[in-house]
Amino acid sequence: MKDIAEALEKKREHARLGGGQKRIDAQHAKGKLTARERIALLLDEGSFEEWDMFVEHRSHDFGMEKQRIPGDGVVTGWGTINGRLVYVFSKDFTVFGGSLSRAHAEKIVKVQQAAMKNGAPVIGLFDAGGARIQEGVEALGGYADIFLENVLASGVIPQISVIMGPCAGGDVYSPAMTDFIFMVKDTSYMYVTGPDVVKTVTNEIVSHEDLGGARVHAAKSGVADGSYDNDIETLTQMRRLVSFLPLSNREKPPTVPMFDDPERAEPSLDTLVPANPNTPYDMKELIQKVADEGDFFEIGKDFGKNILTGFGRMEGSTVGFVANQPMSLAGVLDIDSSRKAARFVRFCDCFNIPIITFVDVPGFMPGTKQEYGGLIKHGAKLLFAYAEATVPKVTVITRKAYGGAYVVMSSKHLRGDVNFAWPTAEIAVMGAKGAVEIIFRAEAAGDADKLAARTKEYQDRFTNPYVAASRGFIDDVIMPHSTRKRIIRALRTLKAKQLSNPAKKHDNLPL
Ligand code: HXC
Repeated sequence: MKDIAEALEKKREHARLGGGQKRIDAQHAKGKLTARERIALLLDEGSFEEWDMFVEHRSHDFGMEKQRIPGDGVVTGWGTINGRLVYVFSKDFTVFGGSLSRAHAEKIVKVQQAAMKNGAPVIGLFDAGGARIQEGVEALGGYADIFLENVLASGVIPQISVIMGPCAGGDVYSPAMTDFIFMVKDTSYMYVTGPDVVKTVTNEIVSHEDLGGARVHAAKSGVADGSYDNDIETLTQMRRLVSFLPLSNREKPPTVPMFDDPERAEPSLDTLVPANPNTPYDMKELIQKVADEGDFFEIGKDFGKNILTGFGRMEGSTVGFVANQPMSLAGVLDIDSSRKAARFVRFCDCFNIPIITFVDVPGFMPGTKQEYGGLIKHGAKLLFAYAEATVPKVTVITRKAYGGAYVVMSSKHLRGDVNFAWPTAEIAVMGAKGAVEIIFRAEAAGDADKLAARTKEYQDRFTNPYVAASRGFIDDVIMPHSTRKRIIRALRTLKAKQLSNPAKKHDNLPL
């Protein structure tokens, strides 16, 4: 028996070495951890159970029959994060550059299917050179199998992709269909075609980093939902993210022990909104002062900064926060912020996470750049997402709620459950100055005094929460310091909320 055990351990040791010590050293020299080291950091200590450690590719072309490495470039299995089940796959760059063979794809599909069946998230760690070039169409078929599982799992289990090295060609589309993509700064890049192909086709000369580095995708393209400095920080943050998420759509959001008073008043919020309506203030402060222990996991921090999205907890239970950010472009809704928030709202709705919306929005961004870019369709995504969402929705208007943007931002009209406004709220079709210039154009033309008088009249009549409140579009006007308490009380009433949309195959979201 001892011999048998020793033989098994020898086989395991060989498999754990992946592409060999030289390649492991090269991986470390680039500031990257190996596939197994990453899993060890991501999961609870000792919880990882590896599957398919001895799987090898079945290729016979280009001398591949002489190069078989157990595991075949991806480490797969399951473990726990804070005691909760997750499935993982981690590409091993030391084995054929982490490239995907048919056998490699089958390993990933196996964990995807198990995760779906058992209701647990899948976390994929990417560090790979795309399709195994020696395999050809076998590898392409393998990608397709993974993509299909990604689509079937969407909205059933959370899927998280972490880009920790190259991620090119076929490797990019699986992350693109998952719920979240995070990247490691300086060591990861993601693109459909690399700099060489770009040069050949378009004559453009561009570096890996400028084409698809973490800064590009987290701030410019919006493909990534965030980026972190190194492997360790990234994996630590992924553990934190998972702590906010239900394991599947069959569960309610997780609840953790809470040490923050649900009745906590926050007097500083009474002076958060400046006297001058054009002066910005930091909406993140409101989120942090309202959420349990100020804990806010931001999604899309560097992209579409005029809207904030992310997870927090109220009375120990996960909620999603969506908030216009007056510090950036006055909190206006544009293409990027609409897309970002729409996707977040839809994630929350898939996974039964209540949505808290803080509103201070002057409207949609005007201009040819926005219109040519399809603002109408992108803005409609957010409108659509809020309207179809059936999870508990609590809204607080802190200042401006103008025009279409008022309607979009989880208004009563889109089935907002509890809609509050602060006394500083201004709910109107547009700002007073713009309104007066249109409706009193003839009367006040060239007469500054008349214009000022009409502006004051418009302000007195409309730039407050009371007209909306008199129609029942606002349930109550609340003092800012009581916001946390009032939201928690609202959420308590919504614990057993039942609401469903008409039966359909699926909707036709304006893409
Ligand atoms: C087989 C590969 C490989 C691949 C890398 N390797 N990519 N083996 N298939 N796709 C191997 C290398 O031969 C090398 O083996 C080892 O991995 C490390 O690669 P290096 O090139 O030395 O590393 P580095 O300099 O860091 O460059 C990394 C890289 C580069 C930028 C990812 O390897 C690269 O450009 N690879 C090819 C990328 C690509 O074109 N993939 C196909 C995309 S098409 P040794 O033995 O020397 O260690 C695609 C279509 C699918 O994916 C579409 C599905 C819908």
